[in-house]
Amino acid sequence: MRSPTAFLSQEYQDLVKNEIDWKIRILEGPSTPWCKVDGKKVLMFCSNNYLGLSTHPKVKEAAMKAIETHGAGSGSVRPIAGTMDIHIELEKRLAKFKHAEASLVYQTGFAANAGLIPQLAGKEDLIISDELNHGSIIDGVRLCHAERAVFKHADTEDLKRVMNEAEKHIPSYRRILILTDGVFSMDGDIAPLDKIAEIAEEHGAMVYVDDAHGEGVLGEGGRGIVSHFKLDREKVHVEMGTFSKAFGVVGGHVSGSKDLVNFAYNKSRTWLLSGSHPPPVAAACIAAIDVLEKEPQHVKQLWDNTKYFKKTMKDLGFNVGNSQTPITPVIVGESGVAKKLGVRLFEEGIFALPIVFPMVARDKARIRTMMNAQLTKKDLDFAISAFEKIGKQLKII
Ligand SMILES: Cc1ncc(COP(=O)(O)O)c(C=O)c1O
Repeated sequence: MRSPTAFLSQEYQDLVKNEIDWKIRILEGPSTPWCKVDGKKVLMFCSNNYLGLSTHPKVKEAAMKAIETHGAGSGSVRPIAGTMDIHIELEKRLAKFKHAEASLVYQTGFAANAGLIPQLAGKEDLIISDELNHGSIIDGVRLCHAERAVFKHADTEDLKRVMNEAEKHIPSYRRILILTDGVFSMDGDIAPLDKIAEIAEEHGAMVYVDDAHGEGVLGEGGRGIVSHFKLDREKVHVEMGTFSKAFGVVGGHVSGSKDLVNFAYNKSRTWLLSGSHPPPVAAACIAAIDVLEKEPQHVKQLWDNTKYFKKTMKDLGFNVGNSQTPITPVIVGESGVAKKLGVRLFEEGIFALPIVFPMVARDKARIRTMMNAQLTKKDLDFAISAFEKIGKQLKII
């Protein structure tokens, strides 16, 4: 007899048995360097709140004020009655910050990728994607009717090979869309966007970069990867990002031409059919942009901390991979070792999560650390000495 729900517990038990179920830790209070997790005071080493803006006084104040002036919710989807003046102001401020013609804000970065990518390529088109792109890009691509090809991670020679193959296709593809993360979240490396844009130009292809981990981090004042490479805006057609990481709030966005934005809001089903941001979210995002424009010290401090942490860890003998950004993996090899390291670090007061297969290769299990501008030198030394002590105990160094 068919059971309607037996798979729920069966599949969950399989995950538990294979130790790949998520064990959720609970943050009791704000995401600050010293915070309370599962009742224990720990140093936060795995938040994407790179600049600490989630608790910046101006950001919090803007959110509270917006509740007073606009209420707690928007009441509708954007195209009906859910576009408020603050949503428009946010889009204008973001476009100005990005030096783009126009920007469009979605509820989340995931909603931006899942809503826009399927509209950019159809049956007669080809999508070419970096093999390590984020899951939200992958799901966006899954919703497409276009043909798909993958190029080796950050390998522009392989991208050229795929492109040359694509040009042999009969009939020729109507459109070609290249998708890449800007900063890859598992390794912290940066996509060769300058070279990707050159290849795209030769073939008349569209370039879409997901800069979720580059914003607030790379480029002039944290303007992101297009600024980092000083690229001509015309050559990167969609710069996608999120307010959920360095901006410290929540919300996805795309920046580019007015044509892109007009197209995107009329076609993205996630934008059209899902409620818009509550006013405090939109207002907090505006305030976060304001802080980035007026207080460059946060991005600078993030990089100073990043350089100090990476160098000291490397000097101690840890394998910190090839990261070029504040995401610093501490690669230990086997999953069991990474998990043990995570547990021991937590006991010593450091909150950093192990990343294991299938999220990374079986022999590349790691603790992924995320740097934060608000960590002091004393905090960093506290974390580094815990890594050193446990690293020696577990024979990692
Ligand atoms: C590369 C990348 N793209 C998109 C997202 C999704 O962003 P959001 O949290 O705004 O949905 C993430 C978040 O994990 C990400 O790392």
